[in-house]
Amino acid sequence: MGIIETEGLTKIYVRDVIDTEFGRLRIRLTNRKTVALQDLSLDVQQGEIFGLLGPNGAGKTTAIKILMGIHFPTSGSARLMGKPLGDREVKKRIGFLPENPYFYDYLKGWEFLDFYGQLYGMDKKTRRRKIERLLDQVGLTHAADRPLRGYSKGMNQRIGLAQALMNDPEIVFLDEPQSGLDPLGRKEVRDIIVSLRDEGKTVFFSSHILSDAEMICDRVAILYRGKLQSLGTLGSLLSQSVRDWEIVLRGVSDEFMDRWRPRLVRLEKSDGDFWVIAKEEATTHELIREATAAGGVLIQLLPRRESLEDYFIRQVQGSPEPRGAAA
Ligand SMILES: Nc1ncnc2c1ncn2[C@@H]1O[C@H](COP(=O)(O)OP(=O)(O)OP(=O)(O)O)[C@@H](O)[C@H]1O
Ligand SMILES: [Mg+2]
Repeated sequence: MGIIETEGLTKIYVRDVIDTEFGRLRIRLTNRKTVALQDLSLDVQQGEIFGLLGPNGAGKTTAIKILMGIHFPTSGSARLMGKPLGDREVKKRIGFLPENPYFYDYLKGWEFLDFYGQLYGMDKKTRRRKIERLLDQVGLTHAADRPLRGYSKGMNQRIGLAQALMNDPEIVFLDEPQSGLDPLGRKEVRDIIVSLRDEGKTVFFSSHILSDAEMICDRVAILYRGKLQSLGTLGSLLSQSVRDWEIVLRGVSDEFMDRWRPRLVRLEKSDGDFWVIAKEEATTHELIREATAAGGVLIQLLPRRESLEDYFIRQVQGSPEPRGAAA
C-alpha cells in the first residue's frame, strides 16, 4: 500500500462567464469548463522521492491542492497514509510548500517559522531548537532577523521550505520548490530533498525543471493536459529511450566495415579502430557477432540515451520515435 494513493482523480474547474451586450441589453450567463486533471491514478511508496513533472498548465498544482485538501476533486479519490483526504491526524504529519506562498512579509524569518511552530502546538524551547536547525539547513541563518519583505525570490523559496519542514513531517509536498532559484540554489534544494529521503521521509514534488528531477527522483509521473503520460522509475523510462548504440571495433578490415556502411548511422576510423553509431539494437548485435567472427575485437559498446528532457518533449509531443542521432 502506498503512502500516497490516488484513484481516478479528476478535476474540472467551472467558471461562470457573463456575456453582455449593450445595444439591446442582453446578458447571458455561461459556464466555461477546464479539465485540469483527468483520471489520475498514482501510488507513491514510503521513502520515495517522487517527481510530478509536466509543462505549464499540466495539472500539477491542481493534483497537489487536491491532496492538500485545498480543492475537492470532481471525481475520484485519494488517500494519504491510508486515510481519506482531510484526516486531521494525517494533516499534522505532512508538510507543504505551496507554488505561490503567501507570506506575512512584515514578519522576520524566525518569527514566521515561530508562527507556524505555534500553529503546530510546539513549545517555545522545541520551536527555538527547530528554527535554528532549519534556518541552518536552508542557509538563512544570516537573514533570521530580517523581515520577509526584504527577502529575494530564492530566500522566499528557502524560508517556505523551512516552513514546510517545521512539524518534522513524514511526507513533504513541494510545488515547484526550485522555481526562482539560480543553479546553486537549485542544487541546494536538491541536496535538501535528498537529505529528507535519507531521514526516511517521502518527498512529492512538482517541477518542470527536468534536469533537477532527473538527478534525484526515484520515480516520476509525467502529466500533460491533465493526463498521465507515463509513470515509472527513471531507469525504466530511460531504458525505452536508447537513441542509438556506440560501438568501437578493433582488428577488422576496411573492406569488412565498408560492407556495413549502408546500415550504420555513422562510421569513422581513428588510430586503426572503427567508431560506429548504429540505430537498431539488432543491427548492433549482428555487427558485433560478425566482426568478432572475422577476428575483430569489441573495444566498447555504449547505449546512448536521451535525457529526461528529450524524453519528456517526445512524450508531450507524442512523436512515435526517439530522435535519431545526428548523422
Ligand atoms: N482555480 C482555477 N479555476 C479555473 N481554472 C483553473 C484553476 N486553477 C487551475 N486552472 C486551470 O487548470 C489547468 C491546470 O492548472 P495547474 O495550475 O494545475 O497546472 P500546473 O501544472 O501546476 O501549471 P504550472 O506549471 O504553470 O504551475 C490550467 O489549464 C489552468 O488554467
Ligand atoms: Mg503549478
